[in-house]
Amino acid sequence: GRRAIVTAGPTAEPIDPVRVITNRSSGKQGFAIAAALAELGAEVTLVAGPVFQPTPAGVTRVDVETARQMLAACEAALPADIAVCVAAVSDWRPRDAAAAKIKKTGDAPPGIDLVENPDILATLSKSPSRPRLVIGFAAETHEVEAYAQGKLAKKGCDWIVANDVVADPFGGDANAVAVISSSGVDRWERMPKSEVARRLAAKIAETFQ
Ligand code: CTP
Repeated sequence: GRRAIVTAGPTAEPIDPVRVITNRSSGKQGFAIAAALAELGAEVTLVAGPVFQPTPAGVTRVDVETARQMLAACEAALPADIAVCVAAVSDWRPRDAAAAKIKKTGDAPPGIDLVENPDILATLSKSPSRPRLVIGFAAETHEVEAYAQGKLAKKGCDWIVANDVVADPFGGDANAVAVISSSGVDRWERMPKSEVARRLAAKIAETFQ
């Protein structure tokens, strides 16, 4: 009966009507977490960037493309008890998407002026209707736990689930994560993403006992 918001997948930021800036996120881990929370009886809104994943049973899915759309969909899903931000949100977007396809001119390629996207995790963490438990992910290539600890404070969330994307590149089926909170670090052995999701959902449920 608890309400949960889960973000998943990449975002896609338009350059022009046919081109986007995006990343390699598959959405697998976020979709698995949405499924696991629903299996435990949560009312889940899954805000998904462009991915090829089936909608888990019992989950309300909202499809979005850009970071700004993802933030708006999350805010529309408030109030909630739990937010799990798994999406690989594009940090930047082109300042002005061209209205028409950009054509080659024979000169130098066009420069793309970037601006920063809103931070969905930080915004939900600071929201007046902040969910009681806000969880972020940290995909790092080095010094995984140190950067993740820093993100806890920077983003204002309760837990950070850190993983090493060198050991487990985007798109794979397994993850070795550490769950970091103010009360310490919980390191889990490498396991399928579906199992990471079930363990995380169980840990979330414990905090609401
Ligand atoms: N996140 C978000 N909105 C953004 C960027 C990130 O909600 N615009 C969330 C992700 O869903 C994840 C967490 O923030 O839960 C970590 O994101 P990450 O991009 O790794 O952190 P950054 O603060 O961007 O740090 P850096 O790029 O320096 O690693």
